[in-house]
Amino acid sequence: MTILVTGGAGFIGTNFVLDWLKAGDEPVVNLDKLTYAGNLRNLQSIANDTRHSFVQGDIAEPDTVPSVLSEHCPRAIVHFAAETHVDRSIHGPQNFIQTNVVGTFRLLEAALHYWRSLEDAQKNDFRVLNVSTDEVFGSLSPDDAPATEENRYAPNSPYSASKAAADHLVRSYFHTYGLPVITTLCSNNYGPYQFPEKLIPLMTVNGSRGQALPIYGDGKNIRDWLYVADHCTALRSVLDRGRPGEVYNIAGNCEMTNVDVVTQICSQLDDLSSGNAVEPRRDLIEFVSDRPGHDRRYALATAKIERELGWQPQETFATGIRKTVKWYLDNQAWLDEVTSGQYRQWLDLNYAKRA
Ligand code: NAD
Ligand code: DAU
Repeated sequence: MTILVTGGAGFIGTNFVLDWLKAGDEPVVNLDKLTYAGNLRNLQSIANDTRHSFVQGDIAEPDTVPSVLSEHCPRAIVHFAAETHVDRSIHGPQNFIQTNVVGTFRLLEAALHYWRSLEDAQKNDFRVLNVSTDEVFGSLSPDDAPATEENRYAPNSPYSASKAAADHLVRSYFHTYGLPVITTLCSNNYGPYQFPEKLIPLMTVNGSRGQALPIYGDGKNIRDWLYVADHCTALRSVLDRGRPGEVYNIAGNCEMTNVDVVTQICSQLDDLSSGNAVEPRRDLIEFVSDRPGHDRRYALATAKIERELGWQPQETFATGIRKTVKWYLDNQAWLDEVTSGQYRQWLDLNYAKRA
């Protein structure tokens, strides 16, 4: 038996593949296009592990997923591959439509064709796990209860709209064709291997280098943070015991404002990398012009996954952020590689004109 993971050279995909191979013996085929966000260096520790096969390919190309399925005959697909950065989707939504919508459509078509060709027993056990986001629900007001799986979709950015479109396609393949799909909606992840365009790694890297920490707007936007290893554990439970056709929220029960998140990163940096001329690091915070359409608050209710699958996060923000900051401080070669070249162009594009 084997599973197929898409996007397994990105942040969550990498953590999932590494955890998967630690937790058991089942092989994993890893299909990834290696965009700017995908990095084979993440998978160096399993380069000689015969249980891991890497295939470079684009899920939006019609022949890619069918050929991987017919060659490797997986029992399940865990679908992470996506364009994921909201700010990039604002500067250019095209790739988001292509990968997140067209790519997911191609993947579903290939999965359906493959699933129909299976024997009854394998057909019963087959799963497509669609990894999605809390952003599909749009912004909550301060008094709203955390979103349940029943909340109405109201995506506000090109990124969240493209993920919502993918989720709707996934849902339709269950209702129309009976393809055994499950969608998970997760809150903001943080941890090792996250590309330093996202809030936590960006602030960690800038803070460690004594550079400005650009917080959008008033910094009071709220996100619900989850350590990535907890997300991976949840996904394994859903794959194991989740019910086809269902949606499961996954979140950390950890709502925090951006200012609080950045302040905690600064304290960890001061503590773990002290003696630096720029202490305290919180003096590096700069409030800059806001993200257009910036959602004010995300929060997810996790009663369903707790009740049905017995999953709960293990990490608190205090323990998770310390591990994360330490990981970035300890992995300078990784950081130097991902913050060279194109990364600087991205920083210019996104930050140079912010007041
Ligand atoms: P990421 O940007 O770090 O990685 C995405 C990976 O997908 C990269 O390795 C990239 O090379 C690959 N990829 C992109 N386009 C591809 C294509 N056309 N074909 C094949 N591979 C392609 O993303 P992430 O943060 O690890 O997110 C993984 C998934 O989890 C995404 O679907 C995202 O929407 C979802 N998600 C992320 C978060 C979060 O906080 N990061 C939270 C909830 C849900
Ligand atoms: O909620 C889940 C989503 O979390 C995932 O679906 C997305 O793939 C992932 O990118 C993330 O989206 P966010 O937009 O919430 O994450 P980001 O790290 O970009 O921003 C987090 C918050 O920090 C948000 O309110 C914007 C703010 N921010 C971000 C950056 C990059 C800043 O204030 N300054 C910054 O420089």
